[in-house]
Amino acid sequence: MKLFSKLAVAAFSATLIATPAAAKNFKVAVGDSGGSSQEATGQGFVKALEELSDGKHTATLFLNGQLGSEQDTVNEAAIGTLDMSILAINNITPFSPSVGVFTLPYVILSLEDAEKLTQGPIGAELTENTIEDAGVRIVAWTYTGFRVLTNSKKPVKSVADLQGLVIRVPKNEIMIETYKSWGISPTPMAWSETFAGLQTKVVDGQDNPYTTINAMKFYEVQKYVTNLRYIFSIEPLIISEQVFQELSAEDQDIILKAGEAATEASATFLREKEAEIKNILIEEGMEISDPENDEAEFIELATKAVWPNFYESIGGIEKLNAVLAEIGRDPV
Ligand code: MLT
Repeated sequence: MKLFSKLAVAAFSATLIATPAAAKNFKVAVGDSGGSSQEATGQGFVKALEELSDGKHTATLFLNGQLGSEQDTVNEAAIGTLDMSILAINNITPFSPSVGVFTLPYVILSLEDAEKLTQGPIGAELTENTIEDAGVRIVAWTYTGFRVLTNSKKPVKSVADLQGLVIRVPKNEIMIETYKSWGISPTPMAWSETFAGLQTKVVDGQDNPYTTINAMKFYEVQKYVTNLRYIFSIEPLIISEQVFQELSAEDQDIILKAGEAATEASATFLREKEAEIKNILIEEGMEISDPENDEAEFIELATKAVWPNFYESIGGIEKLNAVLAEIGRDPV
């Protein structure tokens, strides 16, 4: 090889070896406001990302739906115009129906169930599905707690008490069908419009976990809380698969490890803060009650009417049975 060619090859190889991947500031959309479980996940991610990349990469959280409704952020991430989003899983289900298995009523009955399912093979499979169906990869899981029912009109302890209330739900078929099984037709509404909907009394109530109700100041427009346990809210941190694939293998690994740290931060936040936050809601004037008979009527109606309608979309009855087996419950 001529000297010039040798030098050119050497220079080219040196460039390949020496050029560091560009530093990046990831834009992270967050559906909820400061003080929420979603923010705890986001902060856990930012901290771990900066530490693991020795300060090379950073991430900025855009709280309170500033970058659009939760469902819109999935579309944005899919086409690569948004890097990341933290949003409730029920707002991913329309794009990747198999994740609906985590939204089926009365499947996940504790934080421990949620951790086992999301961090095991089922969580890994759902992550693969969201990449394929929606162009987004789940890198962390927020555990937000049970979606309790709030309303501005009256204490609700039974299915009969629910009648006549106008309840907002996300645009999610499983949740719509669940309320229908309880005898009312709920109003689907984007998360970003929900506070205004409650304030202007377009709707009387909604459901979300304590930590979300507190962070979003729903106590200003809602009075009564019913401790429903029909959905344990899981709220993933997703990254655009396009953005992820543009990263070096080393940076991809950093993102995944920062995601693990964020998941841990979210579980710690819920364990340490949920009881305290429930008391804040009481101090703010909310009245909290339990559904009568250990929620038996709600459970019976929802599981009988809703589960079979969604076997196909979640990947078959076997999928639900695999989930139930993983958390030590009997198959259907
Ligand atoms: C919803 O109700 O749409 C979501 O649960 C809101 C959230 O992300 O907290």
